[in-house]
Amino acid sequence: MALKQQSSDREGEKSRRVREMFGAIAGRYDFLNHFLSLNTDRRWRKTCVREVRERVCAPSPRILDIGCGTADLSLAFSRMGPVIGCDFCHPMLRIGAEKIARNNNHPPVLLLGADALRLPFPGETFDVVVSAFVLRNLASVETGLGEMRRVLRHGGVLAILEFGMPRSPFWGSLYRFYFLRLLPKIGRFVSGVDGAYVYLPSSVQAFPPAEQLKEKVERAGFGDVRLRLLTGGIAVLVTGIAR
Ligand SMILES: C[S@@+](CC[C@H](N)C(=O)[O-])C[C@H]1O[C@@H](n2cnc3c(N)ncnc32)[C@H](O)[C@@H]1O
Repeated sequence: MALKQQSSDREGEKSRRVREMFGAIAGRYDFLNHFLSLNTDRRWRKTCVREVRERVCAPSPRILDIGCGTADLSLAFSRMGPVIGCDFCHPMLRIGAEKIARNNNHPPVLLLGADALRLPFPGETFDVVVSAFVLRNLASVETGLGEMRRVLRHGGVLAILEFGMPRSPFWGSLYRFYFLRLLPKIGRFVSGVDGAYVYLPSSVQAFPPAEQLKEKVERAGFGDVRLRLLTGGIAVLVTGIAR
């Protein structure tokens, strides 16, 4: 009982730290995202949309974007069907809501404050669940994947984008220099926040490698799971079908 309480306290503490950190950088998040990735993040989101489009059967699928942040992925999916974006960080959602208001989307994009570990939806609500650069931030990856599976209808499509580390020795060492040495300094300078861009590389390094992520997705109840390494492995796209 005491052990269970300790682990739930630890999870609560991690969630609180993550929420505060994204709250502190929300105003500079989009700029830094595009700048630090040299706009490659836009390409990764487009690839994610294309891959889901190839796999989805429903004509106007109901889509959930978990940890939607400032809603870039929600907007990228909005031509496919109605999207709900959810996140537990309100400053990120506020910026997303302003973007959505400027875009005047049809079908609509709705944003909602919600925790990825306790989604406020009944089972089998969505045809598509997507999530970009969120999983490694969760206090429990297994619980997060379990919730994704629960809210997807049978045969629905899951797509997860996460950061990875390149494997090629040359590209890998170049990238490591940028990611571990330069990025934290640039991130701190532009955002004015100390820890956030140190947390980014350390959380990516601590996250399981792509093949292990694929196995976790399979264990969470997904079949035909496909793994795609993007930009030499800097990002990873995992898609699967709810069994
Ligand atoms: C790196 S940002 C990614 C935002 C967006 N998906 C994108 O592609 O730009 C991670 C987001 O996940 C959210 N997040 C982390 N843990 C969460 C949780 N347990 N529940 C809901 N949102 C969470 C954070 O608030 C943050 O907005």
